[in-house]
Order: sequence, then structure tokens, then C-alpha cells
Amino acid sequence: MVRKKIIFLSISAVIIFTASTIVILDERYGKFQYDDFEKPAYCGSCHTHFYQQWKQAMMSQAYTHHWDEIEYFDLAVPHADINPQYSLLKAECNGCHSPLSYLAGDTPPPRPEKNSRANESVSCDVCHLITGYEGDTPYNFNYIIQPGKTKFSSRLPGVESPNHKIEVTDIHHKGDFCGICHNEKNGFDIWVKSTHLEWKEGPYYKEGVQCQDCHMPKTEFSTALMGKIFADARLHLFNGAHDNGKLRGTIEIKIYPDIDEAEPGEKVKFTITLFNQKTGHKFPTGSVEDRIVWLHLEAIDEKGNVYHLPVDKKGFEGEKWTIGSNDLEYQDIGIAKGISNFAGIQRDGVPIGDRIFRMPYFDPNGNMTILQWNTKSLGVDYRIGPRETITETYSFNIPDKVEIGKLRIIATLNYQKLVKPVADFLNVPDDESEIVKINEQSIEIEIVD
Ligand code: HEC
Ligand code: HEC
Ligand code: HEC
Ligand code: HEC
Ligand code: HEC
Repeated sequence: MVRKKIIFLSISAVIIFTASTIVILDERYGKFQYDDFEKPAYCGSCHTHFYQQWKQAMMSQAYTHHWDEIEYFDLAVPHADINPQYSLLKAECNGCHSPLSYLAGDTPPPRPEKNSRANESVSCDVCHLITGYEGDTPYNFNYIIQPGKTKFSSRLPGVESPNHKIEVTDIHHKGDFCGICHNEKNGFDIWVKSTHLEWKEGPYYKEGVQCQDCHMPKTEFSTALMGKIFADARLHLFNGAHDNGKLRGTIEIKIYPDIDEAEPGEKVKFTITLFNQKTGHKFPTGSVEDRIVWLHLEAIDEKGNVYHLPVDKKGFEGEKWTIGSNDLEYQDIGIAKGISNFAGIQRDGVPIGDRIFRMPYFDPNGNMTILQWNTKSLGVDYRIGPRETITETYSFNIPDKVEIGKLRIIATLNYQKLVKPVADFLNVPDDESEIVKINEQSIEIEIVD
């Protein structure tokens, strides 16, 4: 993995004076105007299919989505105002979430309710005016962008438009294009987002499977009103964690016991295998600081008594972050929100003892954090890699009072985009912390006298 510090500072820098501090951004900042870019609805007047697909994707909401608005305006901006070390953030978040406002030097942009052009988020013209990226590794919005009437895309020569010129690039075909925004290294030199790097290290990259193949699958439709019908037009779906259908079945679960029959008082060990059959990167990926996946096991006897089984410990370093607990963490949210002596927020909000697949992020004080910019180190990476299978065991001492007969064991793998106690504390609407069932399996064993 190539680790390089962000290089924008070496390109002739722009210096902006604000009331409290001097901030330095790269030469693209403020170089353009909103009017240098066309609106998505304008492109949509001919490219109707793409426009409707894009409107449903998170790409069209990267600036306006409720949780983005809360994290930017209620945490990042105030934190940057308190701590000069973070003053660049206010502009930088938008390098990916609202590239037009970054390029127009509009910081902070008006709130989403003002309906400004910042709301266009990752628009058609953002992606189709990108010609490449600076350096060897795509990350931290190091796109090279060229506004104008030439749109850059991937189709072979021969496609023409009455409205604009088309220039073919290699990069639009490749996962590297996505890495421009789907890899992020923060000021502490920590990769706080590395979906593209995870993909590059995994099996799909080696087989030539690109991000586009799973997130922009090919099918037959007309790419423009007056255009041709192509059999392999790229759906602009970009569906991921906000599409429960995409999430479901990501991991396959199977369970088997060590014995088929047991008596009360006996110990049974269940082995659960979790196979990542769907993602081209780790699961979870992206905003890993927010996301959790957890495996919940229950046994139900013939009378309907329910027993909760905690996971068997494996003994690896940092394991405590991967087992449901009620500890308080996220104390740095108090700093960003100006609350003194903030005790913290409950860490997981999942049943105690459940196995959690995640990677914890730590702030400079060593507490867990969801503030990617305030992340000084990463903890154990206990996520499920592409095509990887992780095995867990859950041992159960059959209670004396259990009902004789069948005992059903149910394993459920749940997913949450944002840890529930954090979502509640920050008043993030419920859909962001909704529990999504990834998969479920059950088996029965016999309880005998
Ligand atoms: C007046 C209609 C019209 C408008 C407006 C328009 N386009 Fe096009 N565009 C076309 C046509 C027609 C084609 C050729 C497609 C075909 O042959 O199917 C095309 C092709 C393209 C291609 C190349 C597709 C390929 O096959 O590689 C891209 C990229 C593109 N347009 C992007 C845009 C963007 C971005 C906007 C808005 C800034 C836009 N277009 C606005 C009509 C339009
Ligand atoms: C200019 C920056 C940029 C580029 C280039 C980009 N993305 Fe994104 N993408 C974003 C941002 C920002 C979001 C987050 C939207 C939000 O706030 O939830 C996002 C969201 C997504 C999501 C939805 C995630 C979810 O939580 O549901 C998927 C999937 C995705 N992108 C895939 C891709 C793929 C595939 C490519 C390459 C073809 C790509 N992106 C290129 C910026 C970009
Ligand atoms: C996140 C980046 C991104 C955004 C946003 C985006 N596109 Fe694309 N678009 C791509 C990529 C990448 C390809 C080429 C995929 C390939 O061929 O491998 C593409 C292909 C196309 C094509 C050629 C279609 C084909 O199948 O060859 C057209 C036309 C197009 N886009 C129009 C649009 C329009 C119109 C919008 C806005 C409504 C839009 N795009 C938004 C990344 C984007
Ligand atoms: C083999 C298919 C496949 C490939 C290749 C693939 N993905 Fe995904 N991706 C998925 C699936 C399935 C999900 C839904 C489960 C999840 O959230 O991880 C997903 C989820 C995502 C998400 C949402 C993650 C989150 O937590 O918000 C993003 C963003 C994303 N992919 C981007 C990419 C990018 C960028 C690449 C290339 C570097 C890529 N994907 C390659 C299948 C794939
Ligand atoms: C290098 C590009 C980049 C930068 C810089 C960046 N983000 Fe993001 N952000 C993304 C991408 C890509 C995603 C989608 C990843 C995923 O699906 O999990 C995302 C996801 C998010 C999400 C989660 C959205 C959701 O619905 O789950 C929030 C909130 C967010 N970003 C806020 C911020 C803030 C605040 C900043 C500045 C401190 C920032 N981002 C800086 C690219 C970036």
C-alpha cells in the first residue's frame, strides 16, 4: 500500500485569512465558480435514465443527507472553530461531499435548507469533468478537474452528442476513479476510509472486477433521449449501505453443534461460519467509524424460554472492542459540542456479549471516536474481508430448568450504519440507526433426560 502525504500543498497554494487563523488549501480551491458547472437536471433533460438513477443514489445527497448535515455543521465546523489544527476541515469535507462548493471557495456553504448549488453534491459534471488524479494513489479528492463543454467518459470513439464534446478516458472504467473519494487519510496520517485500498488488496482487483461492475452494473437502455440503445449501458445506482436490498445476504451464515443430543447441565458448542460472498472490499467498509455488524445467538426451548448466548472469547489483542459492552466512549463529541467534563456515550448499544465485526477508531486521548478527523490510531481490524470466512464459537451450558425436547438455536447477523446510542445523542433520524438483518440461520438439537 502506497502511503504518501497529501501533496496539494506543494502545488502553488492559496492562502485564506479568516478571523482566527490562516488556512492553506490547494490551488483548485476558489479557482472556479458554480456557474462553471452544469446542473444535474440539465444533463438529465437528455440523459433521463441516468438522472433518475442518480437521484436515488447517495451521490445526489452527499451534502444534503441529514446525518451529513449534522456531522458537518454540528461537529466538524464547531470543532474546527475551537481547534485551529482542524481549520481546513470546513473546506475539505466538501472536496468530496460538495465538490462544486469547494472549487467555488464557498466555505461553509449555506445549509441544505437554503437550496444553494452546494446541494448538488456529487453531480454529473463532477464525475464527467474529472480527467485523472494527482500522484500515484487516488485519495483525498485528488481529482484533476476540467470544467467545460468536453465531458470525459469511457465509451469507445463513435459516440457523439449534439450538446457537448466527449473525450474517452481510461480512468472512468477503473476502480481507481472511485478511490479518489473512497480513500481518505486524515491529518494524523491515518487511513480513515480505505474502501479502494481494501479492494486493491483483495481477490476482485486481481480478477479485474472493478467497483463499477458491482455498483454500476451493465444493462440495456438508451444512454440519451436521441442516443443509441446500448446493451451494456452503466446503471448509475451507486447503491451501498443505504440500500437494505444491497446489504441483505452480504454474509452467509451456517451453524453446526458439536453434539446433536445433550442433557441439562451439559455443555454444547456451536460453530458459526460467516462467509462474505458479496462485497469487493471489507464488510463493513466506508464510514467504518460509524458502522457495526454483530452476531446474536439465542436458544429457544419447547416452552418458549429464550436464552441469550455470549460469544466464546478468542483471546486476540483488542478483542474487547469486538464484544458488545456498555462502556462509555466517544468523549470527544463533548469537545466538539462544547460540553465540559463529558462522560461519554454508551459504546455499542447491542446485547452484551455479542460478537461485533468492526474496526474501532481512537482519538488522541485513546478513547473511541466517530470523528474521523480526530482519529489518531486504529484498533483491531475485525471486519470480514472479501470472500473471507470467519468462524466463531458460542458455548452453552444447558440450564437445569430447560424443557426436554427440541432446542432451537437462532443466529442473526445484524448491521447498523450508525451506532444507536450515538445516533440518539446527536438526534440523527432513525433510519440511520435502523437495524438491518443481514442474514439468519437456525438449527435444532435434542435435549434429553
Ligand atoms: C441536448 C442533450 C444532451 C445534454 C443536455 C447532455 N448530453 Fe450528454 N450526451 C448526449 C448524447 C445524445 C450523447 C451520445 C449518447 C449516445 O449516443 O447514446 C451524450 C453522451 C454523453 C456522454 C458519453 C457517453 C459515453 O457513451 O461514453 C457523457 C459522459 C455525457 N453525455 C455526459 C453529459 C453530462 C455530464 C451532461 C450535463 C453536463 C450532458 N451529458 C448533457 C446528449 C446530451
Ligand atoms: C467526487 C467524489 C466521489 C467519487 C469520484 C465517487 N464517490 Fe461514491 N460517494 C461519494 C460521497 C461523498 C458519498 C457519500 C454520500 C453520503 O454522504 O452518504 C458516496 C457514496 C457512495 C456510495 C453509497 C454508500 C452508502 O452509504 O450507501 C456508493 C456505493 C459509492 N459512493 C460508490 C462509488 C463508486 C463505485 C464510485 C466510482 C465509480 C464512486 N463512488 C465515486 C463521493 C464520491
Ligand atoms: C460518481 C461519479 C459519477 C456520477 C455522479 C455520474 N456519473 Fe456518469 N459515469 C460514471 C462512470 C465511472 C462511467 C463509466 C463507467 C464505465 O464505463 O465503466 C459513467 C458513464 C456515463 C455515461 C455513459 C454511459 C455508458 O453506459 O457508457 C453517461 C451518458 C453518463 N455517465 C451520464 C451521467 C449523467 C447524466 C449523470 C448525472 C445524472 C452522471 N453520469 C453522474 C461516473 C459518474
Ligand atoms: C464484488 C462486488 C463489489 C465490488 C467489486 C465492490 N463493491 Fe462496494 N459493495 C458491495 C456490496 C454487496 C455492498 C453492500 C454491503 C456493504 O455495505 O459493504 C457494498 C457497499 C459499498 C459501499 C457502502 C459502504 C458503507 O458502509 O457505507 C461503498 C461506499 C462501496 N461499496 C464502494 C465501493 C468501491 C469504491 C469499490 C471499488 C474500490 C467497490 N465498492 C467494490 C459490492 C462490491
Ligand atoms: C476523501 C473524500 C471525503 C472527505 C474529505 C470527507 N468525506 Fe465524508 N464520506 C466520503 C465518502 C466516500 C463517504 C461514503 C462512505 C460510506 O459509504 O460509508 C462518506 C461518508 C460520510 C458520512 C456518512 C454518511 C452516512 O449516511 O452514513 C458522513 C456523516 C460524512 N462522510 C461526513 C464528513 C465530514 C463531516 C467530513 C469532513 C470532516 C467528511 N465527511 C470528509 C468521502 C469523504
